[in-house]
Amino acid sequence: MSVLIKNGNVVTAADNYVADVFIEGETVSAIGKDLNVEADETIDATGKLVFPGGIDPHVHLDLPFMGTFASDNYETGTKAALFGGTTSVIDYAIQSQGKSMHAALDEWHKKSDHNSFIDYSYHIAVTDLNPDSRREIKDLIKKEGITSFKVFMAYKGALMIDDEQMMSIMNEVREHGGLVAVHATNGDLIDYLVKKHRSEGKLSPLYHYLSQPEITESEASGRFVDLAYYTDVTALIVHLTCEGALNKVRMATQRNQKVFVETCIQYLLLDASLYEKEGFEGAKWVMSPPLRQKKDQDTLWAGLNQGLINLVSTDHCPFFMKQKRMGENDFTKIPNGAPGIEHRLELLYSEGVRKGRISINKFVEVTSTNAAKIFGMFPQKGTIAIGSDADIVIFDPDETHTISAETHHHNCDYSAYEGWEVTGKCKTVLVRGKVAIDKNEIKIEKGYGQFIKRGQSSKVI
Ligand code: URP
Ligand code: ZN
Ligand code: ZN
Repeated sequence: MSVLIKNGNVVTAADNYVADVFIEGETVSAIGKDLNVEADETIDATGKLVFPGGIDPHVHLDLPFMGTFASDNYETGTKAALFGGTTSVIDYAIQSQGKSMHAALDEWHKKSDHNSFIDYSYHIAVTDLNPDSRREIKDLIKKEGITSFKVFMAYKGALMIDDEQMMSIMNEVREHGGLVAVHATNGDLIDYLVKKHRSEGKLSPLYHYLSQPEITESEASGRFVDLAYYTDVTALIVHLTCEGALNKVRMATQRNQKVFVETCIQYLLLDASLYEKEGFEGAKWVMSPPLRQKKDQDTLWAGLNQGLINLVSTDHCPFFMKQKRMGENDFTKIPNGAPGIEHRLELLYSEGVRKGRISINKFVEVTSTNAAKIFGMFPQKGTIAIGSDADIVIFDPDETHTISAETHHHNCDYSAYEGWEVTGKCKTVLVRGKVAIDKNEIKIEKGYGQFIKRGQSSKVI
């Protein structure tokens, strides 16, 4: 099967030019002006952008969390991702305490294999480091293609590890060429504030936000950056939200340290005033870390342009309002997370590129190319080049539409962006050479998505 995408504006992290893209089988085989080739299918992309399929490096599908499960599984979540131009995801396989990391890997394979529309991989979230699990790290990196490990400095009593365990993980991961990713907030300080608010009877969603002030994130980020410097491990702070935390990364550059940083689309666009909405409404945006202030959004946009922030993900972790209501009388019981996997590209294009906050090349870099590079998938993924997987979005830069729970594909009864008008729409999406979305319809079956065995990580991208 061959596909010719004709006359589109081909955009990568480096280039922007009008050309034809010829795909044979699953990969790109030629790029050029007026290609003289015979194709089984020709798509006219005149006036459209043609860019690499999005890679969302931070999602939670079918996650068991806080007494319930995230409401999107691999079938529903990757379908929603595809409608929004995301063609690969990296999910978090969570090690259960007392069990091995390989057991987590097996569990997540059961969730995803034969169910995903798009390609996928996992980070392992390390929650229980002992001599046995420590020994697993080498095997996971070298044999399984799982090269990134997330640690939590918060969720005390559930997922949190201490600094001694952190040092141990960092040293082991560095030795075998992997990356340590972190949820960087100070679990003890959060716990102190949670107890204080509870004892004062302050139990509404607003107090989730007030229990995780900026200092909880900037302190932990600084500590993580220091430990990463000391151990020389390749390091990434995920879902970074605020000025104080980014300044810890900025300061580290003064001693020639490089720490990768991910933020999420919600931290660029939404702010903490949402927690002040009437009644229980604010629960829709209860996530950790929480939404921040307008000044933090300015810092994050600047951080993208300064090259300090390398990735924009979603941390997609949806729950129905019925699930959120588990915390109706106590904010600590509201499942943390919100939906967004479908809207990352269109929102970032509309609010970022069209409003002149980032360039179109930066858009491709932070939604696709950097994820492929940081997580060992480049150049198979993350670009449009000869030999690369033909994961491609054909995008109308001028079509306007409105985001709503009525029309989204998330398995969730609310949208975190209800009523947002966006300009720019994914029209056709290809996954490994196959037209997967066209004219707002899905054209592939679940199970088409494949597990991606990833390569080693590197501080150099
Ligand atoms: O609130 C969030 N972010 N839920 C998902 C789990 C995590 O910490 O990433
Ligand atoms: Zn996290
Ligand atoms: Zn997450």
